[in-house]
Amino acid sequence: MEKFELKVIVTSTRHERKGGAVANWFFEKAKNHELFNVELLDLKEIDLPMLDEPNHPMQMNYQYAHTKLWSEKVAAADAFVFVIPEYNYGMPPALVNAIDFLFKEWNYKPAALVSYGGISAGLRSAQMAKLIMTTVKMVPLTEAVSIPFFAKKINAEGIFLSDSPIDNSYEVMMKELVRWTRGLVAMRKNMEREG
Ligand SMILES: Cc1cc2nc3c(=O)[nH]c(=O)nc-3n(C[C@H](O)[C@H](O)[C@H](O)COP(=O)(O)O)c2cc1C
Repeated sequence: MEKFELKVIVTSTRHERKGGAVANWFFEKAKNHELFNVELLDLKEIDLPMLDEPNHPMQMNYQYAHTKLWSEKVAAADAFVFVIPEYNYGMPPALVNAIDFLFKEWNYKPAALVSYGGISAGLRSAQMAKLIMTTVKMVPLTEAVSIPFFAKKINAEGIFLSDSPIDNSYEVMMKELVRWTRGLVAMRKNMEREG
């Protein structure tokens, strides 16, 4: 069976961040998915500087090794899952920056959001991220994993423990992600043929 490339992007970069626990939970679940090869891309490790390329990313005329490496990783994806916190009712700046570095590498690929926060479950951040994602022609999904009061679900060992509503939203979101991944892979192939 054909497998698709899913990149799970960890978007919080703070020292002692909690997002790693949520991302690990997601990764451990998703890595057994029958239709996806799953890779974790951690923006903290990838460590992009603030956008420093002189040219618009549409030109793909990248000057710096960090951009070329990031371009390769994103270009290899068929689908994305963004694990996203909420800062001041908004999305993390590291994610805005990482998106801005590239353009075509994001185009016509689905993006699912796993957001976490207090009472908001990170939803304001997720909604803000969708605005920017659509500008680089990603297709953000309606179905999402939205985790309120997430810190209460992290145990003393730093492990995120989900519950059945969260597990259920995971299943619903992944089903939708498969649909969009298939559809958009076919669309990108058609576009390649058309030239
Ligand atoms: C600068 C800053 C702003 C925050 N703003 C929000 C917010 O608007 N909504 C919210 O639910 N939590 C907010 N929080 C709390 C975060 O949900 C919490 O710190 C969480 O651990 C952040 O994810 P991270 O640890 O992966 O960076 C904020 C935290 C920081 C550091």
